[in-house]
Amino acid sequence: MNLKTKFDLLADKLEKATLGSNYKAHKIIPRELLKLINKDALILDLGVGTGLSSRLFIDKKFSVVGMDFSKELLKVVSKYNYEQLIKQDLNKKLKVKKNNFDLVISFGVFDFFEDLNHIFNEVKRVLNINGYFAFTVIKSQKPSDSSQTYKHTKKEVRALVKKYNYKIVNELEFLEYEKKDYMAIYYGFILKKNCN
Ligand SMILES: C[S@@+](CC[C@H](N)C(=O)[O-])C[C@H]1O[C@@H](n2cnc3c(N)ncnc32)[C@H](O)[C@@H]1O
Repeated sequence: MNLKTKFDLLADKLEKATLGSNYKAHKIIPRELLKLINKDALILDLGVGTGLSSRLFIDKKFSVVGMDFSKELLKVVSKYNYEQLIKQDLNKKLKVKKNNFDLVISFGVFDFFEDLNHIFNEVKRVLNINGYFAFTVIKSQKPSDSSQTYKHTKKEVRALVKKYNYKIVNELEFLEYEKKDYMAIYYGFILKKNCN
């Protein structure tokens, strides 16, 4: 079964399952971001899912655009007050204008990407000068040989930061998923787009 179909089928249960597994990226990282962004910031949530990742921003009346390739998840999240919801495969060119967003977030999504070059490049294109890019990657997981998810090292992320001319603002590390048959430790990164 491909990943999109898997998420389509999970749509109604995803939020409960996520919250039941000690998920905290949606609290830890937005708390840090709120110290950095202005009230009128336009935010893009890549892999919006059920909207947990941008809930705090929606609650605080920020303008948020959500993107996901699962049409069932986009139906679930449509009950919240998003500026726009876009059906989009993140491995393709993003269907938004360049230099458009003040903040791009993506939590629990790069777990499914083996190579982060495309997304780093696209986020750079759509971010405003001095915009922020905040995301999580898996540092380690148990069982370690999961065939559906990919780990990323700090060294790899730092090399991408340099290649695409971002600056690291904050690096976090936290236990994310803690389920009976799976656990993961995440890195959370907050980057800033360099203007030179
Ligand atoms: C674990 S959920 C995380 C959802 C949300 N970001 C959160 O923090 O609750 C992963 C999300 O990424 C989406 N996703 C995974 N791969 C994708 C891709 N290639 N293009 C678009 N969305 C993708 C899934 O549909 C799902 O909504």
